[in-house]
Amino acid sequence: LTACGTSEETGSETEANNEGETKTLRIVTDAAYAPMEYQDKGEVVGFDIDFIKAVAKEAGYAVEVEHVGWDPIFVEIESKRADLAVSSITITDERKQSYDFSNPYFQSTNKILVQEGSDIQSAEDLKGKKVAVQNGTTGQMAMDALLGKNHSDIKKFEDNNLAIMEMESGGADAVVADNMIVEEYAKNNPDKNLKVVEDATFDSEYYGILFPKDSELVEEINTAINAVLDNGTYSEIYQKWFGI
Ligand code: ARG
Repeated sequence: LTACGTSEETGSETEANNEGETKTLRIVTDAAYAPMEYQDKGEVVGFDIDFIKAVAKEAGYAVEVEHVGWDPIFVEIESKRADLAVSSITITDERKQSYDFSNPYFQSTNKILVQEGSDIQSAEDLKGKKVAVQNGTTGQMAMDALLGKNHSDIKKFEDNNLAIMEMESGGADAVVADNMIVEEYAKNNPDKNLKVVEDATFDSEYYGILFPKDSELVEEINTAINAVLDNGTYSEIYQKWFGI
């Protein structure tokens, strides 16, 4: 770990503005992706939220986390109205052209969620089926690659929960989304008789924190991520949400 020790240089643990107050980072998310980010009694919670709070604290910032939805995240960051976004956002080459990312902090992969008894046993089996995805996600990109871009069998929703509802109501045969989300959903809703197709493999993905291009925060946040990984805080948060 190559900590650069800026806090010692400034002699202060917190980032303060001219009035000596702690700076608040405006953080945006799509809190409809449990257990990573979701709303509980109006509060935005989840693994990502605990993670970014720990990282911000380590870097000496206060935070304000706001649920804006998936597409708006990119608008808020591009316009610099928000300082950063945390939302299970996969680091992709395409996104890197328009945004900056932190170092990776979480590994994931797409998985297929189906009704118990479905004949879908692999990604190939999705051909000729209707697949619900969240618009603009890597799940959609995987389906574009498999079935053909703008194929009418790819049903796109602005919110992942709407994609799941589409399958539950019979409008789609499968949902493709991040493994943590579909696994948690199937497990927490045993009455719905859903299962995750274990044999379907998609590429490994890595989540990063999203910033406006050339944001000054990237380096500081990366240093704080390293600290949170090294000092056991990351493991504690992981244990809290995933039990392992
Ligand atoms: N990891 C996927 C992506 O970056 C899906 C993320 C969706 N996140 C969310 N909070 N809905 O495209």
